[in-house]
Amino acid sequence: MTHTSQELATFCKKKGFIYRSSEIYGGLAGFYDYGHLGTSLKHNFQDLWRGYFLSLHDNFHEIEASEIMHEKVFKASGHLDNFVDPITKCSECQVNYRADHLIEGAINKRVEGLIPEQLTNLIEENEIKCPNCKSDLMPVEVMNMMFPVQLGVGGTHKGYLRPETAQSPFVNFKLQFELLRKKIPMGLAMIGRAYRNEISPRNLTLRQRAFTQAELQIFFNPSKVNEHPDFEKVKDYPLRVMLQEDREANMVVERTAQELVDRGLPKFYVFHLAYIQKLYLTELSVPKEKFRLYELDDKEKAFYNKNHFDIEIDLNSHGFTEMGGLHYRTDHDLKGHQEVSKEKMDVVDETTGEKFIPHVLELSFGVDRNVYALLDLNYHKGEQRGNDVLALPSVFTPFYCAVFPLVKNKDPVVSKARDVYNQIHGRFSCFYDQSSSVGKRYARADEIGTKYCITIDFETLEDECVTVRDRDTTEQQRIKIVDLLDYLQKNQ
Ligand code: GAP
Repeated sequence: MTHTSQELATFCKKKGFIYRSSEIYGGLAGFYDYGHLGTSLKHNFQDLWRGYFLSLHDNFHEIEASEIMHEKVFKASGHLDNFVDPITKCSECQVNYRADHLIEGAINKRVEGLIPEQLTNLIEENEIKCPNCKSDLMPVEVMNMMFPVQLGVGGTHKGYLRPETAQSPFVNFKLQFELLRKKIPMGLAMIGRAYRNEISPRNLTLRQRAFTQAELQIFFNPSKVNEHPDFEKVKDYPLRVMLQEDREANMVVERTAQELVDRGLPKFYVFHLAYIQKLYLTELSVPKEKFRLYELDDKEKAFYNKNHFDIEIDLNSHGFTEMGGLHYRTDHDLKGHQEVSKEKMDVVDETTGEKFIPHVLELSFGVDRNVYALLDLNYHKGEQRGNDVLALPSVFTPFYCAVFPLVKNKDPVVSKARDVYNQIHGRFSCFYDQSSSVGKRYARADEIGTKYCITIDFETLEDECVTVRDRDTTEQQRIKIVDLLDYLQKNQ
């Protein structure tokens, strides 16, 4: 049974995953807070992401950097000039709209990347009116999406909240390269906040004004873009791609990594496409048919990219939605920073003696969107069982198990339950609950994604066994307490 985004938002708030920020003052559009369960889910995603990508290479490292950056960073990166969204205003009620999204909603076609004049023409040709008051819309203009920040007394200095985490590794590149003994490839990963003054923030955390990104910038020798030491391992792996040529038929086609290379994509790029797909199908357990890698055309690509595929998941509440992207940024950023800062960015590849400005492959992920996807794909409305179930993979769920005494206030059972809880707690995420009936406790545990409920009853006192109930099947098994940790370990 599927659900709407509103139903998911209601569930997220009711259970303490995600809700509007500054709620007691009516909320603030585009800003969300994570409650205790949401925070745990988000951290679990970030931990998995970190382990998965940092283990790719022994010269990949994580850094943390300031969220407010020097104005010149964004002069060099091109964001001051190019990081704009198209905007159209109602001639009557003065409400602003993001023009491309408004048009896409009206004509059901992607129009990303068109210039303002083309968008204005589309509004006129299709007689698109203000959704609020049905009046005419004004010609499309562009608006820079960055948040300027006035710094110091009197605001004499200007900085910007970074619109992507990526610029931090770029401005840190030279120093880190030297600290890490001048080895290439080098990877700098960051998990952190990015800020964009979105015109129409919407759909819970899918489009916010402050959001978390997890990005890995791989600095490499451009003459090696057509190689990767592990390419052989993935060459027969079928990638679920929608190339530009597949769009008309609206088809995802499975093409091996080798086939994509034969069609002209660099091996270094395709290897990472495969690694990303494996993350989604294997670690996040996304059903294959709900995943695709969507190739952007020249108009749609971000201004800094040579190759650009979006990573998309078919959300129950929203259809195919971008979760991240694989971006071949070339030397766009380092060259820009070299020009503006006058700091030399070229390096020597010790293995070949070549001198060059490194190229960058960016693996970019929106953490909040991925968390949304985990909630969306695993949320099952209560129709069948009578209560909602969040069937999260065990690695992500806030609580893997729960311990219940069958009766409360009956000392031998309660203290046995406490003993069992103390054994598990610390090894697995676990909570203890003794309020209301066991049926209600099962329901509450299902709703927050708890995989196993462990009940201690009077028989436990005799046979040293507990009842373990599986969230997904609702089946119950008697397991010896001495075997419990082993059972929980093996059946994750
Ligand atoms: N450094 C490259 C970069 O920032 P992007 O496609 O603009 O690329 C990367 O953003 C990811 O960040 C997106 O794929 C998406 O998951 C997430 N993202 C972008 N804008 C967002 C927003 N307003 N709210 C939530 N997530 C967003």
